[in-house]
Amino acid sequence: MGLFGGNKENYKDKKSIIIYFSRADENYFGGAMKYIEKGNTEVIAEYIRDIVGADIFKVEPQIPYSADYMQCIEEAKVRTREHNAPIKENVPDLSSYEVIYVGSPVYWGGMPEELFTALKGLDYTGKTIRPFVTHEGSGLSSIPNQLKNICTGAVVTNGLAISGSSVNSARSKVENWLKGLGL
Ligand SMILES: Cc1cc2nc3c(=O)[nH]c(=O)nc-3n(C[C@H](O)[C@H](O)[C@H](O)COP(=O)(O)O)c2cc1C
Repeated sequence: MGLFGGNKENYKDKKSIIIYFSRADENYFGGAMKYIEKGNTEVIAEYIRDIVGADIFKVEPQIPYSADYMQCIEEAKVRTREHNAPIKENVPDLSSYEVIYVGSPVYWGGMPEELFTALKGLDYTGKTIRPFVTHEGSGLSSIPNQLKNICTGAVVTNGLAISGSSVNSARSKVENWLKGLGL
């Protein structure tokens, strides 16, 4: 019996961790600016955590992005261009994890530079990466390919792309994605 057809307690995923980046504050939703308390990608990360029982780690920038959306856009452009985005804390030791969920907003068509800082240079041999992304129109964009490039040795599965403005009603999409991955 699969996860969704049966008893959740009977379900055991491979040992997994969710590593994600997400920013609250001012954001842009289909034409309007809005202030949010919790980032969109974080909402999806928490659905996954609740469904599969994975560990969870949030990548935090050493220098927070501005709350102002337009300023944040500019800061992200500079950090990406200069490949300069130190993070508060390194990701935990990944050696015991078989599955890594990587969650990212789309920033300028790819991942925020902080996720490169967090993920590059680690050993991914034999691991599976399941990417999930929130966006305002770009879909997965280049994020799966970016992950393939920096996480050498890992298998990168089909990704999940959710529009940022719809995260609060996206739990069933998350479940369907996980089912499609064989959970
Ligand atoms: C700096 C920045 C750059 C962005 N670039 C894109 C983009 O290229 N394509 C897109 O569809 N959305 C873009 N967005 C919108 C975000 O991907 C979207 O709002 C996402 O849900 C934010 O996730 P978060 O709340 O978890 O940080 C951008 C947002 C920011 C702040």
